Amino acid sequence: MKKLFLQTFGCQMNERDSEAVEGLMIGRGFQTTPSIEDADVVLYNTCSVRDHAEQKVFGRMGDFLKLREKNPRLIIGILGCMAQEHGDNFFKKNPEIDLVCGTGNLNQVPDLVESIEERRSPRLAIDRLDEEYSLEDIHHRGDAMKAYVTIMKGCDHRCTYCIVPYTRGVERSRRSESILKEIKDLDRRGFKDVMLLGQNVNSYGKGLDEPIDFAALLEKIQIHAPGISRLRFITSHPKDAHTRLFTAMRDLPMVCEHLHLPVQSGSDRVLRRMKREHTIRWYLEQIEEYRRFVPEGSLTTDLIVGFPGETEVDFLETLTLVERAEFDSAFIFTYSPRPGTPALKLDDDVTSEEKNRRLQVLLAAQKAVNLKKNQALIGKTIEVLFESRTKKGDNRYAGRTRTFKRVVAASSGGICGEFHAVRITGVADETLIGRLG
Ligand code: SAH
Ligand code: SF4
Ligand code: F3S
Repeated sequence: MKKLFLQTFGCQMNERDSEAVEGLMIGRGFQTTPSIEDADVVLYNTCSVRDHAEQKVFGRMGDFLKLREKNPRLIIGILGCMAQEHGDNFFKKNPEIDLVCGTGNLNQVPDLVESIEERRSPRLAIDRLDEEYSLEDIHHRGDAMKAYVTIMKGCDHRCTYCIVPYTRGVERSRRSESILKEIKDLDRRGFKDVMLLGQNVNSYGKGLDEPIDFAALLEKIQIHAPGISRLRFITSHPKDAHTRLFTAMRDLPMVCEHLHLPVQSGSDRVLRRMKREHTIRWYLEQIEEYRRFVPEGSLTTDLIVGFPGETEVDFLETLTLVERAEFDSAFIFTYSPRPGTPALKLDDDVTSEEKNRRLQVLLAAQKAVNLKKNQALIGKTIEVLFESRTKKGDNRYAGRTRTFKRVVAASSGGICGEFHAVRITGVADETLIGRLG
């Protein structure tokens, strides 16, 4: 059997795309391998969101040469966002690459690989950026309990720093019938935790010929796949986060009490320059509303420091927001200029030392908020779905609460895939420590 090594960088959407590609390749007689040395086909599903993400992939190019020397018949492919962005430049700079396949062409990967095997000539496939959803009906899953389900692709916002609209195309929602078919199948197979994926799940339904919005989709899933205990979704844009969504979160038992609502900055001036289409006042009003409807719910966010023109005052506003909004956790990034984005025209005037300083200050502030919020849970008993044994090799298992907090607890028997009531006894970094009840 031919062997496939596939490594994924970037977001959950890439994880799901990779899983689907793996499924397609298995359907063509491939078997996956965790060892790159054994592989007949090596695929990297890549991310362009920040320079750092791209450097991780560019850093592998030297390995490709060595692998090719050892196995001249090896096929090497670059998939996903970097493929979409750089196109045939990959071949020019790295002739050892055989395949460059963009985000909308992934369903063609097995055919492309076969044609390379036959003709030994490189293939470029990046012409379907705005294609409709084309990775349906792929049953292969890397996990037996948790599953990602893509409900929309692309993005119609144009945040000035962001490359995603250029690597993922315009926004397209997937037909609800197709989504439900996939989730009903997951339900039948015993999956417990489903995460719906899209760049802006709140605008789900736009452009479809059926009258449906995101809250209505959640309702349909609740009705038609009742065995799914936990339904999650990412990402929501603050502009379209409305009471209708919070009502659905309150009323539908399977929808988890967790909202990821990227704010990016605490300064209205910076938000305007980012073209985020929301103000801090609007954001605070929405999260207040969310907390009124879902009092036990958690809130997480994304933040960027050092955007062009960000002053110390702007930064302090972000710091104040972190303290005021009390995020359960936050992904905090330093601004990274991206090719082709509107912000590239702005002067990247915050020095990298200053960006890093702001990053450290904000990380420390968020860490303190996180600790305070987690400590407030000590003594409480919370439902945890256990996922894995911890790496330490003792009898400790890690799982998630409905609010997406990580919990570690000891157990003498295997508990992966099981729900347990856990009494929280302590906190270590961002993890809750607990005892099985
Ligand atoms: N669609 C999602 C975001 C996808 S990108 C949303 O709008 O919420 C994930 C995160 O990466 C963004 O929320 C942002 O915080 C960060 N990001 C995107 N482009 C960036 C850049 N050029 N530099 C630094 N961080 C960036
Ligand atoms: Fe990027 Fe903005 Fe679209 Fe999110 S909403 S993917 S940050 S352009
Ligand atoms: Fe990265 Fe593409 Fe996701 S740029 S964050 S892999 S959409």
